[in-house]
Amino acid sequence: MPKISRRASQTPSSKIRRVFNKSLGHDDWVKFTVGEPDFDTDQTIIEAAYQAALMGNTHYVHNAGIFPLRQQLAKKFYEDQHLTVNPETELMVTNGGTEAIYLALQAIVEPGDEVIMPGPQWTPYPMLTTLNHGKAVICKVHEKDGFQYTEENLRRSITPNSRILILNSPCNPTGGMAGRSTLEMVAKVAKEFDLWVLSDEVYEKLVYDGNEHISIASLPEMKERTIIINSFSKSYAMTGWRVGFMMAPAALMQVMVKLHELETSCCNVPAQYAALAALNMDQVVTGRMLEQYAKRREILVKGLNRISGVSCVPPKGTFYAFANVKELGVPSDELVERMMDEVGLAVVPGTAFGEDGEGFLRFSFAVSEKTIEEGLERFETFVKSLRQ
Ligand SMILES: Cc1ncc(COP(=O)(O)O)c(C=O)c1O
Repeated sequence: MPKISRRASQTPSSKIRRVFNKSLGHDDWVKFTVGEPDFDTDQTIIEAAYQAALMGNTHYVHNAGIFPLRQQLAKKFYEDQHLTVNPETELMVTNGGTEAIYLALQAIVEPGDEVIMPGPQWTPYPMLTTLNHGKAVICKVHEKDGFQYTEENLRRSITPNSRILILNSPCNPTGGMAGRSTLEMVAKVAKEFDLWVLSDEVYEKLVYDGNEHISIASLPEMKERTIIINSFSKSYAMTGWRVGFMMAPAALMQVMVKLHELETSCCNVPAQYAALAALNMDQVVTGRMLEQYAKRREILVKGLNRISGVSCVPPKGTFYAFANVKELGVPSDELVERMMDEVGLAVVPGTAFGEDGEGFLRFSFAVSEKTIEEGLERFETFVKSLRQ
């Protein structure tokens, strides 16, 4: 057979998929694996896509996305973060946040450039970095620091080759959020070492206990070195529609629009109209989803903390609980395999998010309260069996 690229074929497949695939066909298992809302997309949004298609919006559009959507996004940035963003030159609609991250790395990274990211981190960051000829530099973050960068560990990760610093707040998998003081520290370091900040804000709307999402781009002199990644996937239960968006300085955006044209031309057009409807509709719909997540979070976190040998810091944002299982004394991967085989419970090992995730399990609470209660029972039974 002719050759396949080594770089591509050696990219590991994600452990989340492995657990997910193993759980397929086991309808009696309790599953906390997938990182997507269990709600259906709101009817208003679906109707808007249908109407757009009926009205003939089925052709290629501007590579950066339909202008009314970019205008609405600019308004959103202003209302949410007091950011003044030019919809003509600084915004682009992408095929999900994932493509936006890919484009940013492709546009910035030269071979050997280093991309700093937290450990544990969302699984694709290191893989996308390597695919774009960069080197992933993992900066370990700790539970005691709310899984946030500290100035000390961040400075230790910097070398003359550092080019991009990834910030993910609220964070998948840890549920941690960067407060103003952390953001100020990150901003200071980014300016000192002339780094780009790739700020992944896809969970910005899923925050609890009155926590406030602050974009680092809103800090003084940060907009000019920040790329904001965002998406309709999580905020509006629109994972399958594949609509994301990004904000970046015009000079960088111009390059990314060009790459986006080569890769996908533009984001699916009826889906862009659906996204526009999502922004324009009564936001009470997202508020209702958030209320549900908040209830589930409470049940899950309380339940986990009741199990001897398990502890869980309440996540400030996202729909993930990152449970510390170090006291159980069994590696996360082994725990996950045995839980599936012995009690039919599927969760994601912390190691799916890099080696710094060892000793943790990620539970997604984008599942019903009943599923959470049943899962907690199975987890407790399993943990007790370990002690016998
Ligand atoms: C941290 C983070 N960033 C980005 C994404 C990408 O989401 P999408 O491509 O669906 O917009 C995800 C999805 O799980 C995520 O967890």
